[in-house]
Amino acid sequence: MAERSTTRRRIVVGVGGGIAAYKVCSVIRHFTEAGHDVRVIPTRAALKFVGAATFEALSGNPVTTEVFDDVDEVAHVALGRQADLVVIAPATADLMARAAAGRADDLLTATLLTARCPVLFVPAMHTEMWEHPATVENVATLRRHGATVAVPASGRLTGADTGAGRLPEPTEIGLLGDLLLARPDALPHDLGGVRMLISAGGTREALDPVRYLGNHSSGKQGYALARAAAQRGAQVTLVAGAVDEPGEPAAVEVVRIASARELQEQMIRRAAEADVVIMAAAVADFRPVSVAGAKIKKGESGPAPIELDTNPDILAGLVAGRTAGEIPERTVIVGFAAETGDEHGGVLDHGRAKLRRKGCDLLVVNAVGDGRAFGTEDNTGWLLAADGTEIGLPYGSKTLMASRILDEVASLVPNGEGGRSGEV
Ligand code: C5P
Repeated sequence: MAERSTTRRRIVVGVGGGIAAYKVCSVIRHFTEAGHDVRVIPTRAALKFVGAATFEALSGNPVTTEVFDDVDEVAHVALGRQADLVVIAPATADLMARAAAGRADDLLTATLLTARCPVLFVPAMHTEMWEHPATVENVATLRRHGATVAVPASGRLTGADTGAGRLPEPTEIGLLGDLLLARPDALPHDLGGVRMLISAGGTREALDPVRYLGNHSSGKQGYALARAAAQRGAQVTLVAGAVDEPGEPAAVEVVRIASARELQEQMIRRAAEADVVIMAAAVADFRPVSVAGAKIKKGESGPAPIELDTNPDILAGLVAGRTAGEIPERTVIVGFAAETGDEHGGVLDHGRAKLRRKGCDLLVVNAVGDGRAFGTEDNTGWLLAADGTEIGLPYGSKTLMASRILDEVASLVPNGEGGRSGEV
């Protein structure tokens, strides 16, 4: 469920005529529950899938498809001008073609021409339609016009077919919309062709077949990075341990692991093929020396002590692998540090020392403790770069923080479409 927002914004939800129109009901709820004023504008075809009454009940506002209804109010001009965000979902091939051409033959396309706020198209269609050169060109045109066109998920389409073209989950559409409300330029399509390897969540170190040593990591920051990177065009592999996330981000390959050593195996192997590696996982520093084959019994004399071994430092290992030439020299390596201040220094002092110790290119420093960072929706911290640059990351959603981290990453990637290297 969406958290109630402190500011009430005006959001237009445009609905195209695709079977995924029913899923948009949850997106409307996401925005109304956050306290926003939502106006739903369906196309005529959308009303063949979901009735106007449903959209009116969910948004609490009247619904029409035509420019010629309520002419005295000049609805298309008023709705477009006043909107803080327009979300089009499902964006069908036909709707995107009309929008790219600047047509204004219904209320939704006319509203798009008057809107000056961020516009998010969330496509859903069969793979052949998504990959057709006409659609590819229309998507490029819409992006050139300043709109964000989301990358669809892969998976089950209508009927038995599967492939790219599935509407991302409503929670993800809501998060992307929230991000654009907070930061209109948060999702440029600047990471096309960049291969990104991201770890997320906590590791679990088995004690016996039923018990493990774990931590409170929710994986939310790593998932937010994967989601935002994929939406900026990167090819993302997410290596995920234990997480508290409702679904998988669209267009992201997810690999599951449990223990630190499994994570190490995946990261080291896959890093050789990555342009960027981000270690957002909370890796256990220790693991039990041995894993009992059968459930450990309570016993007469109370619990036996657990003997621990030190886990490998995966981040340091990745940096060492790069120095040794096993990982390409140009691969950008990003670490995370969860710190509390103590008698030896503040959070930032510990972060600076860790950046030097680990040898990575960027280190995201979070202050933890007192309910901060672990498992929360919001985050704050600093981004420290090996060249001495220090950037404060203002308080906001983990998706917003991810977008700021990715801005820095994009500037370091040699071959990224958004890389700085082309300018030098
Ligand atoms: O040393 P510390 O655990 O505080 O460092 C945190 C950073 O190091 C994170 O990026 C985390 O993913 C990574 N790490 C690791 N292997 C470990 C422990 C932490 O890669 N065994």
